[in-house]
Amino acid sequence: MVEMGIPAAEIAGLAAEYATRTPVEILTLALERFDNIALSFSGAEDIVLVDMASKIRPGVAVFSLDTGRLHGETYRFIESVRERYPITLDVLAPDTIAVERLVREKGLFSFYKDGHTECCGIRKVVPLKRKLATVDAWITGQRQDQSPSTRASVPVIQADTAFSSAEHPVVKFNPLARWSSAEVWRYMREHDVPYNQLHEKGFASIGCEPCTRAVLPNQHEREGRWWWEEATIKECGLHAGNLKGGR
Ligand code: ADX
Ligand code: SF4
Repeated sequence: MVEMGIPAAEIAGLAAEYATRTPVEILTLALERFDNIALSFSGAEDIVLVDMASKIRPGVAVFSLDTGRLHGETYRFIESVRERYPITLDVLAPDTIAVERLVREKGLFSFYKDGHTECCGIRKVVPLKRKLATVDAWITGQRQDQSPSTRASVPVIQADTAFSSAEHPVVKFNPLARWSSAEVWRYMREHDVPYNQLHEKGFASIGCEPCTRAVLPNQHEREGRWWWEEATIKECGLHAGNLKGGR
């Protein structure tokens, strides 16, 4: 019988053992150990995880955080992914009252004036917290090469200290942690994986429309996100543990 779950004391050892395994092997472990697990899909290069996971477990639970501010291309892409793959897709909305209050008090573009933390908190982090309270583990498309300042040491498996409690520990899998963008794109071509049309318009990293822009050749992809802020704080709270001093 396959052992279920991963005791906290075994996470670091398994992470070390799986550090050099392929994303498919890491996903297979995640889906073998956890029945109640969901894949977070942002509508960007993490599409490769949807392709891989839905082949391992048809019907796999996937969720996207709809901030209300995504690009039209991203909404269309997410919907086409729902049609193409055997997945159970939840599109999660933020709390209406909290969004209305923020916009009434600070307007629709408060983040340019006082930073992205408050808006990301309402539109992404609270809905994620709500989702993670219902699962035992989640899977993300984070990669070490996405941000030298904050993601260089993202492990393939970790305890999600930002969203766990003593009563409800949550394990986080990052199967693409050690893959480069080039490896992701090679997989997409070899497996005929569809992609967000924004990639054809110079976008590398994709987030919300007002907070993401295309990058120039040889600019780092993270420079297209929250470009008016310091590189060292460019995490929206979904992966708070990556920040120095983050939990
Ligand atoms: S972010 O924290 O800066 O926004 P990024 O865009 O690099 O994250 O994406 C890293 C991973 O975080 C994605 O592969 C996905 O697993 C998760 N993620 C980010 N944004 C969303 C979203 N809107 N919905 C679901 N998952 C997301
Ligand atoms: Fe708000 Fe920008 Fe964060 Fe999206 S990325 S939730 S628009 S601050």
